[in-house]
Amino acid sequence: MILLTGATGYIGSHTWLELLNAGYQVIGIDNFSNSNPLVLERIRTLANQEIFFEQGDVCDSHFLNKVYKKYPIEGVTHFAAYKAVGESAQNPMKYYENNINGLLNLLRVAGLHNCNKLVFSSSATVYHPSNSIPYTEGMRLGSTNPYGWTKYMCEQILRDCEIAEPDLRVAYLRYFNPIGAHHSGLIGEDPIGVPNNLMPYLTQVAVGKREYLSIYGNDWPTHDGTGVRDYIHVVDLAKGHIQALNYLMTNDQSLTVNLGAGKGYSVLDLVHAFERSTGIQVPYKFIDRRDGDIAAFYADPSLAQTLLGWSVEYDLEKMCRDSWNWQSKNPNGYSKF
Ligand code: WQD
Repeated sequence: MILLTGATGYIGSHTWLELLNAGYQVIGIDNFSNSNPLVLERIRTLANQEIFFEQGDVCDSHFLNKVYKKYPIEGVTHFAAYKAVGESAQNPMKYYENNINGLLNLLRVAGLHNCNKLVFSSSATVYHPSNSIPYTEGMRLGSTNPYGWTKYMCEQILRDCEIAEPDLRVAYLRYFNPIGAHHSGLIGEDPIGVPNNLMPYLTQVAVGKREYLSIYGNDWPTHDGTGVRDYIHVVDLAKGHIQALNYLMTNDQSLTVNLGAGKGYSVLDLVHAFERSTGIQVPYKFIDRRDGDIAAFYADPSLAQTLLGWSVEYDLEKMCRDSWNWQSKNPNGYSKF
């Protein structure tokens, strides 16, 4: 059985479904601090089977111990963490306490129950901005914001624990920019408040919740002056976790891989792809650059292809269609009003 922390979140819920589709038994946990309980009903519907879930906080060792005693857990996929770059700069303590303590607690309890296979949700934000693109796994690490530093520090904690605990096996998955949604439109990205990230803000403009998209700078040194990123369909990202888990279950070693499409698209590329694939015009305005942003980054995903046989299936238009399908079917996300 696989423990999924942050199971009702955007990436967690999509991975939960892919794990069930791949035949894994899953116990999901979440404290709903950044997700909605309605996801549980949607997962049951999509998986067409009963699911196992416990509400609680990965930072609560009593709760985590109870879960480990109740379920035969042989591996963990750890998503539970805060992930808003801007918020992390305004409230670093919230991020260090939650993201670091969550991992430390999980490692302590998992160790007590001889659970030594962990898939860790890392991020492209661990790469130092001085690196040339595309990013490869051996490049210089270092971040520009507390969120990215928590992911960097968690990787370091895990690497030190691997040295001390020879049986520990970790898959460090460095995500690029996940967008899109399951083709059913029943699960998707549902940020609380004003979306930080590009695609959820864009789809809220398209559905009429926001007046226009603000594009942070059109004077970047890129092909059209707007920021370039590596967008990856969230289902492709979820499937990468299944491959990584299979790898840990069958190979006696850890791995660190980029999970990205390996292509860089600008903000305007994404807006135009969205308009082409949905027929919906998206009004936008250029405003000043956002603090902490860099011009461009995208992945070299070849190591994930070599080690996991994994590569993305879905293109930018498909990502846009699936994002819109989710948003148009759920104009207010998981909340009814
Ligand atoms: C993408 C591009 C913005 C919003 C984040 C975080 C982290 C990571 C990936 C997990 C940039 C521009 C955005 C808007 C805009 N996830 N933009 N108007 O900052 O690349 O990375 O997601 O680890 O959460 O690092 O993603 O979607 O915020 O920005 O113009 O309203 O869109 O300037 O060029 P980012 P993003």
